[in-house]
Amino acid sequence: MPALILPTARVGHSYLAGVREFLAEGRGGPDDRSLFGNLIREAGHPDDTPAWLERALDFERRLTTHPPAHFVPSTTYWWTEDDTYLGRINLRAHLNEQLREIGGHIGYDVRPTARRQGHATAMLAAVLPHAAALGIDKALITCDAENTASRKVIEANGGVLEDERGGKLRFRVPTAP
Ligand SMILES: CC(C)(COP(=O)(O)OP(=O)(O)OC[C@H]1O[C@@H](n2cnc3c(N)ncnc32)[C@H](O)[C@@H]1OP(=O)(O)O)[C@@H](O)C(=O)NCCC(=O)NCCS
Repeated sequence: MPALILPTARVGHSYLAGVREFLAEGRGGPDDRSLFGNLIREAGHPDDTPAWLERALDFERRLTTHPPAHFVPSTTYWWTEDDTYLGRINLRAHLNEQLREIGGHIGYDVRPTARRQGHATAMLAAVLPHAAALGIDKALITCDAENTASRKVIEANGGVLEDERGGKLRFRVPTAP
Protein backbone atom coordinates (compact mmCIF):
# COMPACT_ATOMS: atom_id res chain seq x y z
CA MET A 1 0.00 0.00 0.00
CA PRO A 2 1.37 3.45 -0.85
CA ALA A 3 1.84 5.80 2.08
CA LEU A 4 2.91 9.33 2.92
CA ILE A 5 6.42 9.67 4.28
CA LEU A 6 8.73 12.57 5.00
CA PRO A 7 11.55 12.99 2.46
CA THR A 8 14.31 10.48 3.07
CA ALA A 9 17.52 9.41 1.37
CA ARG A 10 16.19 5.82 1.40
CA VAL A 11 13.91 6.67 -1.53
CA GLY A 12 16.55 8.91 -3.12
CA HIS A 13 17.23 6.81 -6.20
CA SER A 14 13.55 6.66 -7.17
CA TYR A 15 12.98 10.33 -6.25
CA LEU A 16 15.79 11.30 -8.61
CA ALA A 17 14.10 9.33 -11.41
CA GLY A 18 10.81 11.11 -10.62
CA VAL A 19 12.49 14.52 -10.74
CA ARG A 20 13.90 13.63 -14.16
CA GLU A 21 10.40 12.75 -15.37
CA PHE A 22 9.06 16.17 -14.27
CA LEU A 23 11.99 17.83 -16.05
CA ALA A 24 11.27 15.80 -19.20
CA GLU A 25 7.70 17.13 -19.28
CA GLY A 26 9.04 20.69 -19.26
CA ARG A 27 8.92 21.56 -15.56
CA GLY A 28 11.80 23.26 -13.74
CA GLY A 29 12.68 25.86 -16.38
CA PRO A 30 13.73 29.42 -15.55
CA ASP A 31 10.09 30.57 -15.61
CA ASP A 32 8.87 27.79 -13.30
CA ARG A 33 7.86 29.67 -10.13
CA SER A 34 6.57 26.53 -8.40
CA LEU A 35 8.36 24.75 -5.56
CA PHE A 36 9.70 22.35 -8.17
CA GLY A 37 11.24 25.25 -10.08
CA ASN A 38 12.85 26.46 -6.87
CA LEU A 39 14.15 22.98 -6.11
CA ILE A 40 15.95 22.86 -9.45
CA ARG A 41 17.31 26.39 -9.04
CA GLU A 42 18.59 25.63 -5.53
CA ALA A 43 19.80 22.05 -5.87
CA GLY A 44 20.80 22.32 -9.55
CA HIS A 45 19.97 19.84 -12.30
CA PRO A 46 20.07 16.34 -10.90
CA ASP A 47 23.16 14.26 -11.34
CA ASP A 48 23.80 10.89 -9.79
CA THR A 49 25.95 12.21 -6.96
CA PRO A 50 25.02 11.92 -3.28
CA ALA A 51 25.71 15.67 -3.07
CA TRP A 52 22.74 16.47 -5.35
CA LEU A 53 20.41 14.31 -3.27
CA GLU A 54 21.65 15.98 -0.09
CA ARG A 55 20.90 19.43 -1.54
CA ALA A 56 17.45 18.29 -2.70
CA LEU A 57 16.60 16.78 0.71
CA ASP A 58 17.87 19.89 2.41
CA PHE A 59 15.59 21.99 0.18
CA GLU A 60 12.55 19.80 0.97
CA ARG A 61 13.23 19.86 4.73
CA ARG A 62 13.91 23.59 4.92
CA LEU A 63 10.47 24.29 3.47
CA THR A 64 9.01 23.85 6.94
CA THR A 65 11.19 26.56 8.49
CA HIS A 66 13.03 28.51 5.79
CA PRO A 67 10.98 28.44 2.58
CA PRO A 68 12.08 30.31 -0.56
CA ALA A 69 11.07 33.97 -0.88
CA HIS A 70 7.32 34.46 -1.39
CA PHE A 71 6.50 30.97 -0.07
CA VAL A 72 4.89 30.26 3.30
CA PRO A 73 6.24 27.36 5.39
CA SER A 74 4.94 23.99 4.25
CA THR A 75 5.56 20.33 4.89
CA THR A 76 6.51 18.12 1.97
CA TYR A 77 5.26 14.55 2.09
CA TRP A 78 6.32 11.98 -0.46
CA TRP A 79 3.82 9.39 -1.65
CA THR A 80 5.75 6.15 -1.87
CA GLU A 81 5.24 2.42 -2.18
CA ASP A 82 8.09 0.36 -0.76
CA ASP A 83 11.02 2.52 -1.87
CA THR A 84 9.37 3.81 -5.03
CA TYR A 85 8.66 7.52 -5.25
CA LEU A 86 5.22 8.19 -6.77
CA GLY A 87 4.58 11.85 -6.08
CA ARG A 88 4.59 14.67 -3.57
CA ILE A 89 2.08 16.72 -1.68
CA ASN A 90 2.70 19.95 0.23
CA LEU A 91 0.64 21.09 3.18
CA ARG A 92 0.66 24.69 4.32
CA ALA A 93 -0.50 25.47 7.84
CA HIS A 94 -1.17 29.14 7.13
CA LEU A 95 -2.17 31.10 4.07
CA ASN A 96 -0.96 34.50 2.93
CA GLU A 97 -3.09 36.87 0.90
CA GLN A 98 -2.01 35.36 -2.41
CA LEU A 99 -2.59 31.75 -1.33
CA ARG A 100 -6.06 32.71 -0.07
CA GLU A 101 -6.83 33.70 -3.66
CA ILE A 102 -4.88 31.04 -5.55
CA GLY A 103 -2.80 28.17 -4.22
CA GLY A 104 -4.56 27.27 -1.01
CA HIS A 105 -3.43 24.86 1.70
CA ILE A 106 -2.39 21.89 -0.42
CA GLY A 107 -0.45 21.34 -3.67
CA TYR A 108 0.45 18.03 -5.30
CA ASP A 109 2.13 16.36 -8.26
CA VAL A 110 2.23 12.73 -9.32
CA ARG A 111 5.24 11.68 -11.39
CA PRO A 112 4.25 11.19 -15.04
CA THR A 113 4.78 7.40 -15.14
CA ALA A 114 2.54 6.91 -12.07
CA ARG A 115 -0.46 8.93 -13.27
CA ARG A 116 -4.01 7.64 -13.80
CA GLN A 117 -3.65 4.98 -11.14
CA GLY A 118 -5.56 6.78 -8.40
CA HIS A 119 -2.46 8.04 -6.60
CA ALA A 120 -3.39 11.74 -6.42
CA THR A 121 -6.86 10.89 -5.11
CA ALA A 122 -5.42 8.58 -2.44
CA MET A 123 -2.56 10.94 -1.59
CA LEU A 124 -4.94 13.85 -0.97
CA ALA A 125 -7.16 11.63 1.19
CA ALA A 126 -4.09 10.62 3.20
CA VAL A 127 -2.95 14.19 3.86
CA LEU A 128 -6.34 15.50 5.03
CA PRO A 129 -5.96 14.13 8.60
CA HIS A 130 -2.61 15.98 8.79
CA ALA A 131 -4.43 19.16 7.80
CA ALA A 132 -7.09 18.49 10.45
CA ALA A 133 -4.32 18.04 13.04
CA LEU A 134 -3.09 21.53 12.15
CA GLY A 135 -6.54 22.91 12.92
CA ILE A 136 -7.60 23.30 9.29
CA ASP A 137 -11.27 22.47 9.15
CA LYS A 138 -11.96 23.02 5.46
CA ALA A 139 -8.83 23.03 3.33
CA LEU A 140 -8.69 25.47 0.44
CA ILE A 141 -7.45 23.73 -2.72
CA THR A 142 -7.30 25.40 -6.13
CA CYS A 143 -6.70 24.15 -9.65
CA ASP A 144 -6.76 25.52 -13.17
CA ALA A 145 -10.26 25.46 -14.61
CA GLU A 146 -9.06 23.18 -17.41
CA ASN A 147 -7.21 20.75 -15.10
CA THR A 148 -9.85 18.02 -15.24
CA ALA A 149 -7.68 15.50 -13.44
CA SER A 150 -7.01 17.75 -10.47
CA ARG A 151 -10.65 18.80 -10.29
CA LYS A 152 -11.67 15.13 -10.12
CA VAL A 153 -9.09 14.49 -7.40
CA ILE A 154 -10.51 17.33 -5.31
CA GLU A 155 -14.14 16.38 -5.87
CA ALA A 156 -13.45 12.73 -5.07
CA ASN A 157 -12.27 13.97 -1.68
CA GLY A 158 -15.47 15.89 -0.99
CA GLY A 159 -14.36 19.22 -2.45
CA VAL A 160 -17.10 21.81 -2.81
CA LEU A 161 -16.60 24.53 -5.41
CA GLU A 162 -16.48 27.94 -3.74
CA ASP A 163 -15.83 30.14 -6.77
CA GLU A 164 -13.57 30.79 -9.75
CA ARG A 165 -10.96 33.53 -9.69
CA GLY A 166 -8.63 34.34 -12.56
CA GLY A 167 -9.14 30.98 -14.26
CA LYS A 168 -8.61 29.04 -11.03
CA LEU A 169 -11.30 26.97 -9.39
CA ARG A 170 -11.33 27.32 -5.59
CA PHE A 171 -12.62 24.37 -3.58
CA ARG A 172 -13.17 23.74 0.12
CA VAL A 173 -12.38 20.20 1.19
CA PRO A 174 -13.50 18.98 4.62
CA THR A 175 -10.53 17.53 6.47
CA ALA A 176 -12.57 15.23 8.72
CA PRO A 177 -15.37 12.87 7.64
C1 LIG B 1 -3.33 16.24 -11.62
C2 LIG B 1 -2.56 15.01 -11.17
C3 LIG B 1 -1.99 15.27 -9.78
C4 LIG B 1 -3.53 13.80 -11.15
O1 LIG B 1 -2.80 12.69 -10.65
P1 LIG B 1 -3.29 11.18 -10.89
O2 LIG B 1 -2.58 10.32 -9.89
O3 LIG B 1 -3.14 10.84 -12.32
O4 LIG B 1 -4.84 11.30 -10.53
P2 LIG B 1 -5.81 10.06 -10.26
O5 LIG B 1 -5.24 8.82 -10.85
O6 LIG B 1 -6.16 10.05 -8.81
O7 LIG B 1 -7.06 10.47 -11.16
C5 LIG B 1 -8.13 11.25 -10.71
C6 LIG B 1 -9.17 11.33 -11.83
O8 LIG B 1 -8.67 12.16 -12.88
C7 LIG B 1 -8.71 11.44 -14.10
N1 LIG B 1 -7.56 11.84 -14.88
C8 LIG B 1 -6.27 11.63 -14.58
N2 LIG B 1 -5.48 12.19 -15.53
C9 LIG B 1 -6.31 12.74 -16.43
C10 LIG B 1 -6.12 13.46 -17.63
N3 LIG B 1 -4.88 13.71 -18.09
N4 LIG B 1 -7.22 13.89 -18.30
C11 LIG B 1 -8.46 13.66 -17.83
N5 LIG B 1 -8.72 12.99 -16.68
C12 LIG B 1 -7.65 12.53 -16.01
C13 LIG B 1 -8.64 9.97 -13.71
O9 LIG B 1 -9.17 9.15 -14.71
C14 LIG B 1 -9.51 10.00 -12.47
O10 LIG B 1 -10.87 10.05 -12.88
P3 LIG B 1 -12.00 9.15 -12.17
O11 LIG B 1 -11.99 9.60 -10.72
O12 LIG B 1 -13.22 9.52 -12.91
O13 LIG B 1 -11.54 7.76 -12.33
C15 LIG B 1 -1.39 14.68 -12.15
O14 LIG B 1 -1.91 14.60 -13.46
C16 LIG B 1 -0.27 15.71 -12.11
O15 LIG B 1 0.64 15.62 -11.29
N6 LIG B 1 -0.36 16.69 -13.01
C17 LIG B 1 0.63 17.78 -13.10
C18 LIG B 1 0.62 18.67 -11.88
C19 LIG B 1 -0.76 19.14 -11.46
O16 LIG B 1 -1.62 19.45 -12.29
N7 LIG B 1 -0.96 19.20 -10.15
C20 LIG B 1 -2.20 19.67 -9.55
C21 LIG B 1 -2.17 21.16 -9.47
S1 LIG B 1 -3.71 21.76 -8.78
